[in-house]
Amino acid sequence: MDKFLIRGGRPLHGKIEISGAKNSALPCLAAALLTPETVILHNVPYVKDLITQRRLLEDLGATVLTPELRTHKINARNVAIYEAPYELVKTMRASVLALGPLLARFGQAKVSLPGGCAIGTRPIDLHLKAFEKLGATVSLDSGDVIATAPNGRLKGTEIEFETVTVTGTENVMMAASLAEGRTVIRNAAMEPEIEDLADLLNKMGARIRRAGTTVMEIDGVEALGGAEHTIIPDRIETGTFIVAAAITNGELEIKNCRPEHLTAVIEKIRETGVEIEAINPSTLLVGSGSSGLVAKDVTTEPHPRFPTDMQAQYMALMTQAEGVSNITETIFENRFMHVGELLRMGADIHISGHTATVRGKTKLKGAPVQASDLRASASLVLAALCAEGESVIDRVYHIDRGYETIVRKLRSIGADIERITESNSTGKEVIAGR
Ligand code: UD1
Repeated sequence: MDKFLIRGGRPLHGKIEISGAKNSALPCLAAALLTPETVILHNVPYVKDLITQRRLLEDLGATVLTPELRTHKINARNVAIYEAPYELVKTMRASVLALGPLLARFGQAKVSLPGGCAIGTRPIDLHLKAFEKLGATVSLDSGDVIATAPNGRLKGTEIEFETVTVTGTENVMMAASLAEGRTVIRNAAMEPEIEDLADLLNKMGARIRRAGTTVMEIDGVEALGGAEHTIIPDRIETGTFIVAAAITNGELEIKNCRPEHLTAVIEKIRETGVEIEAINPSTLLVGSGSSGLVAKDVTTEPHPRFPTDMQAQYMALMTQAEGVSNITETIFENRFMHVGELLRMGADIHISGHTATVRGKTKLKGAPVQASDLRASASLVLAALCAEGESVIDRVYHIDRGYETIVRKLRSIGADIERITESNSTGKEVIAGR
């Protein structure tokens, strides 16, 4: 298992390019299953989850070409298998995004039920209830969800999600695009990735529109066609680099981002004393500010509020702020796995229910720590970048799932970070650029 060796205490300076959004590319790849024509996607990040999603499409019978590194040319004309097996779903929950497209186009789908994961139980009951409302028969057999559309086609309906669900909304958007008649989704998610998927689907011939902020109307069509689409920049990677600049007392120019997709994050981090300026619509200049960081509370909520995917990174930042900050997690029940590791580095954090109370500023010291999930790994990298001495972060396969060439990017702005692979215990970075 690969590890990162980080020697902390160096301010990060320079320019960084943000990659395409993992959480947008995943549903967009799945959407290509809705049509026999070719879908071309640009700006697909080269991260492990996308490699897994690509493998899923190929296993189903689609062809995926990559004429250029971040361009995927997908043709799902010859899909003949309608099944996402446990081996894939257990490594990446987003495989459940195959359910909606397969069910809508072929009238049948079998997808292994994802189990719990490091951040919570994460059921998909809301996806399944919505498919049933669209007329599907859904059953569970030996850990697999089996869904069929009687007479081969789903029927438009009214769906009200009791909880905002991102992939649930995406699954229904894809399924309803090929259903007969109109579907109305109430309490639909509003994340930028939802809008990106809607853009792609509409380019493919779908008829999706917002009817009020949380209501989406979809008029089903008989068939969808090919399209070409560029994935939006990753707002969570953007937020992570904002914290990287602030936590190391550095200054970064963050290019190819969409500041309007992370307004709540930018506003909150500004409140703590960090200077963040949009120097053009796709570039942010982040400086640490002259008077140090001050603690500010935060609560995670669905978009457009502060995202749960930035909670762990924000907590690392708050260990360096003067005062007490309460960080409340409302989306996932078990998303404080990074706390124990931050404590090993010298942070002062207490958890009570869904709130972690951080007392700062603490002097962090490098330590051996373990990554437990994708964003927790990012928070440990950030803490290690500002800590005194050496940290070794184990299980970085979590970070490889969602951050493109993180070692190369951090080194390019002055971080002292190396990837240690199992075959190379001497500490040299073997796979340059990952
Ligand atoms: C997506 C993101 C993930 C992000 C999360 C919340 C992708 C690939 N992943 O995950 O990075 O952290 O949104 O912004 O886009 N829930 C149910 N039943 C369901 C579905 C969800 O109870 O059927 C609950 C979940 O357990 C959670 C909440 O609803 O408590 C929100 O989850 P959801 O928005 O569905 O997260 P994902 O789509 O899995």
